[in-house]
Amino acid sequence: MKERLEALRQEALEELKQVADPGVLNDLRIKYLGKKGALTEILRGMGSLSNEERPIIGQVGNEVRAAIEAVISEKQELFIRQETENRLRAETIDVTLPGTKTAAGAVHPLNKVVQEIEDIFIGMGYTVAEGPEVETDYYNFEALNLPKNHPARDMQDSFYITDEILMRTQTSPVQIRTMKAMNGKTPVKIICPGKVYRRDDDDATHSFQFNQIEGLVIDKNIRMSDLKGTLLQFVQQIFGEQTQIRLRPSFFPFTEPSAEVDVTCVQCGGHGCRMCKQSGWLEILGCGMVHPRVLEMGGYDPNEVSGFAFGMGVERIALLKYGIDDIRHFYTNDLRFLSQFARM
Ligand code: DAH
Repeated sequence: MKERLEALRQEALEELKQVADPGVLNDLRIKYLGKKGALTEILRGMGSLSNEERPIIGQVGNEVRAAIEAVISEKQELFIRQETENRLRAETIDVTLPGTKTAAGAVHPLNKVVQEIEDIFIGMGYTVAEGPEVETDYYNFEALNLPKNHPARDMQDSFYITDEILMRTQTSPVQIRTMKAMNGKTPVKIICPGKVYRRDDDDATHSFQFNQIEGLVIDKNIRMSDLKGTLLQFVQQIFGEQTQIRLRPSFFPFTEPSAEVDVTCVQCGGHGCRMCKQSGWLEILGCGMVHPRVLEMGGYDPNEVSGFAFGMGVERIALLKYGIDDIRHFYTNDLRFLSQFARM
């Protein structure tokens, strides 16, 4: 029996030496050491041994088992090591290879101008308000002192959804929404950027959808000089310190008095050039003192408080600021145009 055990050891170690595959290794472990394996098979015969022989053979059996187990676990470790090495080799990264460039986006020039204007007004203590683009006739017109059949409604040919609901034609409805939300409290000091819609045919200076920024200030003793000083401060920050303004009398139903504001030409500084049609001035926004009726509709007493408001077209400001000649460049998303603003 001892010889059979020794022979088994020989045979097993010989066979294990050749193994190069973890699956085969496992098969051999079962073949030699398994419950129905060769070693168990031999040791089953121990019952017929004498009392003296039994412990000796038992010990040999244990030695053979230990020897086979040792080789198996040695092989197992080897396989694990090899597999790790193979994986590491396969996953090697060559850090010296040149990288692939990811195209980085940039802020759209219109959004850039909006952000810049917001920053200027935030610097003067304003907060930024918002309102819906789908608006009711009441907020877009009625409450702004444009009752039904008012001729000024024609100035803003509208996209109606129903008789009472339309795409807002201006950001001015946010004036009323803000006043109502403030519930009579002062001061009110907001700007509101947003998209507006009009039934215009698109051309170099018109678009059926464009952006405005509305401003509204309400408090005790707000005067026209506050409006003028605010606008001067604003244009000098956005167009440069040399910029001057002039106010021309105008009409808006929601302000009284109303004015249109011109800046000294950003191109020629006021001497006269093609851009300003030799006038030296460029129109940039509408403004005025909030009409008493509008204050009332917003829940304020015009005998207690006063206010000013203004509204400007973002595209117009951007055209002037960057010397762009066609508003459609902003919407057609030609990267050759857009990418120029990434570095500005
Ligand atoms: N809402 C006017 C427009 O779209 C612009 C405007 C003019 C807004 C005067 C104002 C204002 O707040 O006071 O043409």
